[in-house]
Amino acid sequence: MMAIKFHKPVLLEEVLNLMNDNMEVIVDATCGNGGHSYKIAYTYKDSIKALYCFDKDPTSLQIAKERLLEFDFVRCINKSYVEVGSVLKKNKKRADFILFDLGLSMWQITSSQRGFSFKSDEILDMRYNPENGLPVYLILQRINPIDLAKVFKAYGDVKGARKLANVIVRERKRTKIKTTFDLVGILKTQYLSEKEIQKVFMSLRIYVNNELQELITGITRALNVLNNNGIIAFITYHSIEDRIVKRISNIQGMVKIKPYPIKPKEDEIKQNKSARSAKLRAFIKGGDYVEETPYTLFNTMAFDFPSPFFSA
Ligand SMILES: C[S@@+](CC[C@H](N)C(=O)[O-])C[C@H]1O[C@@H](n2cnc3c(N)ncnc32)[C@H](O)[C@@H]1O
Repeated sequence: MMAIKFHKPVLLEEVLNLMNDNMEVIVDATCGNGGHSYKIAYTYKDSIKALYCFDKDPTSLQIAKERLLEFDFVRCINKSYVEVGSVLKKNKKRADFILFDLGLSMWQITSSQRGFSFKSDEILDMRYNPENGLPVYLILQRINPIDLAKVFKAYGDVKGARKLANVIVRERKRTKIKTTFDLVGILKTQYLSEKEIQKVFMSLRIYVNNELQELITGITRALNVLNNNGIIAFITYHSIEDRIVKRISNIQGMVKIKPYPIKPKEDEIKQNKSARSAKLRAFIKGGDYVEETPYTLFNTMAFDFPSPFFSA
């Protein structure tokens, strides 16, 4: 059997530095292959009472579950992190530390065969959970050009988004667009560089997984089950994610921990290129936190994001 190449956790030591052995209930909102969770569980095995590991991707989480078997306080939950609040409430728990490591994992790019990379020929799916929603290739068959242009612009800042959307809608009548290479073939007729193709792929991935809407909901719900003096930390890889996360310091009772944001050191980037755009931000919850504030704070932003449930 071929050995699984796990995702390499980013800014691992820096995340551990935010923790201490008074933290009993921990949430890894995006467990992936369990890289962060494993190190957290191992380092704090004597003080942790519960470590809740969420991930939308059932296969990634199954890998994590097997790696984390030795820790009896680990609970793996194959749900979106928008459920962190409800799951903790149901278990009558509040969290001392919550980690969101956003985006997708290297394992998903190299091994899931769901079309996340434009460099290998795979079915154009891109869903973190292939049991929910529609794959990208079906969305591309149905979406209208105006919405498609909005997706390219809002999530990828793709140049000539309107023209590109029209080309795709024209081409889908003539030829099938089912695989990554089908799409890449069309994009190349428009002379897109690799960087621009990557932006198109990223925008479709963010859209199909409703990533930014879920991030906003996930943050607001997670904050409501964070203990006073609890810490919430985010690793972002994309400027829009970072813009959303930064807003947390405007919420009454949430205090930015300094010197964050922290970026990976040269050495880490040398060993793991995909860490190069990562930023770690962390916030501590104070006693004067007001539960309703996050919704109003983020609401205006949420309207700017096209959601697959409206236009596909
Ligand atoms: C960068 S990876 C996390 C890697 C992980 N920290 C590790 O060390 O293996 C991001 C993960 O978030 C998951 N994800 C994305 N959106 C999610 C959501 N709304 N809820 C739960 N998991 C999500 C992806 O499936 C992916 O596995």
